[in-house]
Amino acid sequence: MLPSSVKIVEVGPRDGLQNEKQVIALAAKLQLIDELAAAGLTYIEAGSFVSPKWVPQMADSQQLFQQLTKQAGVTYSALTPNMQGLQSALNAKVDEVAIFGAASESFSMRNINCSIAESLLRFEPVIEQAAANGLKVRGYVSCVLGCPYEGGISPAKVLQVTQQMLAMGCYEVSLGDTVGVGTPLKTEKLLNTLLQHISADKLAVHFHDTYGQALANILIALQQGISVIDSSVAGLGGCPYAKGAAGNVATEDVIYMLNGMGIETGVNLAALVTAGQNIMRQLGRSSQSKVAQAMAAVTQ
Ligand code: HMG
Ligand code: MG
Repeated sequence: MLPSSVKIVEVGPRDGLQNEKQVIALAAKLQLIDELAAAGLTYIEAGSFVSPKWVPQMADSQQLFQQLTKQAGVTYSALTPNMQGLQSALNAKVDEVAIFGAASESFSMRNINCSIAESLLRFEPVIEQAAANGLKVRGYVSCVLGCPYEGGISPAKVLQVTQQMLAMGCYEVSLGDTVGVGTPLKTEKLLNTLLQHISADKLAVHFHDTYGQALANILIALQQGISVIDSSVAGLGGCPYAKGAAGNVATEDVIYMLNGMGIETGVNLAALVTAGQNIMRQLGRSSQSKVAQAMAAVTQ
């Protein structure tokens, strides 16, 4: 059965902007986050506390959180791969943090410079300390439907890492198709495996749209009872350690589809399209969102 409402986790300011080649002014990031909140998004992944040598675009996350005008009812979160990241996140007064691991050993090494087992050991104190400071922790598992270095990934491996993260204290795990290679039947097979052991309300889906499969995969996830969807305004994004990976599925496209299915999101599509157009103007490119393109063509 389809969910009656869906929570959108807007990852544009983090996943979207982390992969940009050009420097993005802090003011443009702040404007984007404000406009996303004004459009009705209630969960915004606003930055990440990672090494500035690895991901220079996120180096200003501390200032960003300091200057952010938080709107009531909106959760502003950040990625924290280790204790150093968590300490910075606590100093910055983030609302929630996320740890990020992978179902692929090679991707784990490239992305966070350690094995899967080591990453889980690193996350333990992060989760503990976050909880001690009253912060909820979200988990990510990358490469759930394929890895840019290893190719196929078994659902059993995804299940194992996901269960470990939940057992460690993550309230939810977001399943990342980091390179966007998944197709609907593969997605269904993965979710069938996971849902035999994990309830749907502990899972979110995070599709990159490299091969144009994201909406089809999201439909499968909805049909399996998953009601948390990660997406990125204007389809911004990619992972610097997954070469060729395109942006996340565009939030505008997800909202349009959900609106058409009568599924509540609380997001104002027109305001969201404007937010996307504004950041794309800053970046000097056009939106990757089909819906934003179509709506712009109609109003011209
Ligand atoms: P490392 O080099 O193994 O860390 O990096 P280290 O502990 O050995 O420290 C080395 C240096 O990094 C030191 O500085 C530390 O201070 C610094 P130095 O003494 O050389 O000047 N450092 C830090 N600086 C700031 N913040 C920190 C931090 N930690 C250490 N938290 C580390 C390990 C994880 C930090 C590194 O590999 C890293 O930053 N990786 C970036 C990972 C990343 O952000 N990837 C993109 C996000 S994940 C993603 O996009 C996937 C997702 O969207 C889901 C999906 O699509 O599948 C979530
Ligand atoms: Mg991602």
